[in-house]
Amino acid sequence: EAFSFDLATGFQTQEQTSSKPAPEVVFTNEGGTPYSQPYDAQRIGSDGPLLLQDVHLIEHLAHFARERIPERVVHAKGAGGHGYFEVTNAEFAKKYTMMDVFSENGLKTPITVRFSTVGGESGSADSARDPRGFSVKFRSRKGIWDLVMNNTPVFFIRDPSKFPHFIHTQKRNPQTHLKDKDLFWDYLSSNPESLYQVMRLFSDLGTPCGFTHMNGWGSHTYRWIKEDGKWVYVKLFAETMQGVRNFTNAEAVAMQGNNPDFATEDLFSSIENGSYPGWTLYAQVLTPSQAERFKYNVLDLTKDWGFDDVPKTEIGKFYITKNPDNYFAEIEQAAFSPARMIDGWALSADPVLQARSFSYPDAQRYRLGANYMQIPVNTPTCPVANFERDGQMNVQGNQGSRPNYLSTLSPIQLPKLPYVEDTHQQWTGGAVRSLSRVTEIDFDWPRRFWNSLSEQDQQNLISNIVGHLGLVKSVEVRKRQVALFAHANATLGQAIADGVGVPVVALEFPDSGPTWLNTTVPSSTSTLNY
Ligand code: HEM
Repeated sequence: EAFSFDLATGFQTQEQTSSKPAPEVVFTNEGGTPYSQPYDAQRIGSDGPLLLQDVHLIEHLAHFARERIPERVVHAKGAGGHGYFEVTNAEFAKKYTMMDVFSENGLKTPITVRFSTVGGESGSADSARDPRGFSVKFRSRKGIWDLVMNNTPVFFIRDPSKFPHFIHTQKRNPQTHLKDKDLFWDYLSSNPESLYQVMRLFSDLGTPCGFTHMNGWGSHTYRWIKEDGKWVYVKLFAETMQGVRNFTNAEAVAMQGNNPDFATEDLFSSIENGSYPGWTLYAQVLTPSQAERFKYNVLDLTKDWGFDDVPKTEIGKFYITKNPDNYFAEIEQAAFSPARMIDGWALSADPVLQARSFSYPDAQRYRLGANYMQIPVNTPTCPVANFERDGQMNVQGNQGSRPNYLSTLSPIQLPKLPYVEDTHQQWTGGAVRSLSRVTEIDFDWPRRFWNSLSEQDQQNLISNIVGHLGLVKSVEVRKRQVALFAHANATLGQAIADGVGVPVVALEFPDSGPTWLNTTVPSSTSTLNY
């Protein structure tokens, strides 16, 4: 698919393909002045010291020392490419949303996709047991929309303050600088709402065979909005056209040694060979009043809706058809964020989603700079006009001579929005400190998941857990985690208890404590019934 500009440089170009011949270029310094010998250095005589006036050498060394930018604090190792999204069921989508990307059958929107592991550093092995990130940037005619998914319908937490704690325990021990299984399971066993995601992670779903054989879930409940302000809750799901395929633990471990970059290489070569990976995008919809009656709180990120309970409907398909010409420019510098939305798509009150809407642009201002939206891969294809000016690396003309305030002398047009944003939802109540608490319903999905697994997959889940939890030194931690598995399912719990050498003890629920969780969403969300 053609792009109207070069994603690496921002210059207007003809359609490019990665097999294009290299243009003829002459070696120059950073100022474009031709230079004849890249390897030379100025010195006194043939063996004497170097000269400060050798600006070529100094420029060369100075730039080299500044090549690294901060890697993403999570999802640092990744790979990606470009392609397009095509609408297949505008009739369905338009019943619920005015999003431009779903507005007409056959409409194609250019996209950039990035896959990633979560916990490892930028050089870590692709086949690690870890969730996978799955981000899609839609360059719609009405602005950028980022769908920042994982390959799982749920997550380990539902209270956003836990995220840095949780991630720290998945990364390196502050003293040994080693991954630490005791810290890993200490956290998970003390925060039982993570159990369903833990079970998915330790099934073979935790070691997908590359990036193209896995599904993507938006995970959170978002909202779809129509021109008249009516809205519904929505979840999006991307199903791989390549079929789901996972490594066993043994295969994944071997691949980490044999080819740590397996998924990156597999993605690049599939695209290069013309076997463009594709996914079908589905939506699940609940009206606000259906959500009130739903058996799980739809704002709880540790709970899925399930396709049996809420059927999914296809809305489109997307394909990755082009490798980056330059990885750093087009993938490393890509900034995906749940805060990057277009009309018709909105956050729900899920507290983790709300926190993410702050965290990503904040991370990107740090990682890429305040003007990160001017980096070509992040720039919308439609015009941008606002009052954000100046700052480092302001490289797209700084919006020219137009006044940098809301001026009556040279007015900027204000679009007439078809609805008033603030009336979508009305919330009441005082400011409270909120933290969820674990109750019996938190074991519902772990049980559903266990019962959905084949006997072989159940065996693999048990042995994958035993192989990891069994190496934890703390007996207390092992016992606490086994109690959680046993509460979900007695057979599972006993098998793991036997494998890791601890007895099964009964799980105790705290009988009181703060919680924001009811079983369903408070009715104050439904001021506008659909
Ligand atoms: C990356 C924070 C939960 C998916 C990131 C980054 C941050 C972050 C700071 C790095 C962004 C960058 O430097 O560009 C958080 C916080 C969370 C959270 C604070 C919860 C409180 C989630 C969830 C999902 C998710 C629930 C999926 C449903 C991703 C993906 C990336 C990412 C896919 C990589 C984006 C890319 O490819 O560049 N997250 N995250 N995260 N996160 Fe999260």
